[in-house]
Amino acid sequence: MSFVSDKVSNLPPYLFSELNQKKTALQAKGVDVIDLGIGAPDLPTPDFVINRLIKESQVAANHGYSVYNGSKEFREAVAHFYKTHYKVELDPETEVLAVIGSKEGIANLMQATVNPGEIVLVPDPGYPVYRTAVHLAGLESETLPLDEANGYKPLYSHIDPNVINRSALMLLNYPNNPTAAIADYNTFLKAIAFARKNQLLLVHDAAYDLLTFNGYKSPSVMQVPEAKEWAVEFGSLSKNFNMAGWRIGYAVGNKNVIKALSTIKSNIDTSQFLPIQKAAATALKSDFSAVDNHKKIYEKRMETMYAALHRLGIQADKPNGTIFLWAKVPQGYTSMSFAEKLLDEAGVIVTPGNAFGSKGEGYFRVALTVTVERLKEVISRIEQLNLNEVIH
Ligand SMILES: Cc1ncc(COP(=O)(O)O)c(C=O)c1O
Repeated sequence: MSFVSDKVSNLPPYLFSELNQKKTALQAKGVDVIDLGIGAPDLPTPDFVINRLIKESQVAANHGYSVYNGSKEFREAVAHFYKTHYKVELDPETEVLAVIGSKEGIANLMQATVNPGEIVLVPDPGYPVYRTAVHLAGLESETLPLDEANGYKPLYSHIDPNVINRSALMLLNYPNNPTAAIADYNTFLKAIAFARKNQLLLVHDAAYDLLTFNGYKSPSVMQVPEAKEWAVEFGSLSKNFNMAGWRIGYAVGNKNVIKALSTIKSNIDTSQFLPIQKAAATALKSDFSAVDNHKKIYEKRMETMYAALHRLGIQADKPNGTIFLWAKVPQGYTSMSFAEKLLDEAGVIVTPGNAFGSKGEGYFRVALTVTVERLKEVISRIEQLNLNEVIH
């Protein structure tokens, strides 16, 4: 007996874990592998957030269960953030929910909102976890193609009308992983119009909303007047405040959806540890100078890497947000053959674009999660490669 369900057996292999295995094998051979594959922030959580956690951990009253939808303080801090940052009013009682990272929230959302036989539209290229979440919920996903020529915005006209008819939910994510594409208000206006026209739920994943550069400020889908009728938005402390391991985020928007997700979660996880919620509330109510400091670091890394790729003749758009660079593989390579060349010959891990969907083929993603010094080492190793020499 394998005791493993079909759902788990039929999951596509999590590409990052395969890369990780290869990384471990190379490291065992003494290779100094530089990992620009997984988008895990390397910077520390701000001290004032850690200090609040320490203080609250020492209070016995914080050791019990949280209320299912998250502590009042945390939900009010999220509402405060939306009001001050986005000029959007949210009712912390009904329109805000604490989640254990947006990954958890999005996975549980599928069961909370979609019925068997209905379709979930998933962006391609896109964060692979979306499709996995749909699969684990026993549901069907279909591709929402993104238009590269138009800054990776949805190509609604390219979706089969029969698929649209059966669709119950559509996912979007800006600033985008993996492409670093950004949205403007109009992108969300059109997405809400599409949701209304086709009577489906729009789910926007805003995991990188504060990590923006060059004066660009990312909008929220909640700024669109009818958004609360048609959408929910997920936010996360993981990237914005370098709190990836803390597992804390939020869902906001449509009351029915927030309630349905809360019902699912009340039967699964009973919310996050209260001191973590309280520390996260402190982060969200702060002046964001800590975020600004981190942004400067990411931006410097991005500029360093972008300039180097340009010098190497590798085509990439200069990002206005996220912690990623999305670049075209040199001529003659596939995403995988280029990623393999970098790993085997330079000890550098990047993520092949096809890990994010078939429309990612021909690209690779660089996570800017190492220091400028390490990036310079990466650049010097790539400069020593003969990129015209394609291995087949
Ligand atoms: C687009 C996107 N959404 C969600 C997540 C997961 O974030 P969290 O740590 O809040 O679960 C990630 C993490 O890489 C991401 O890239």
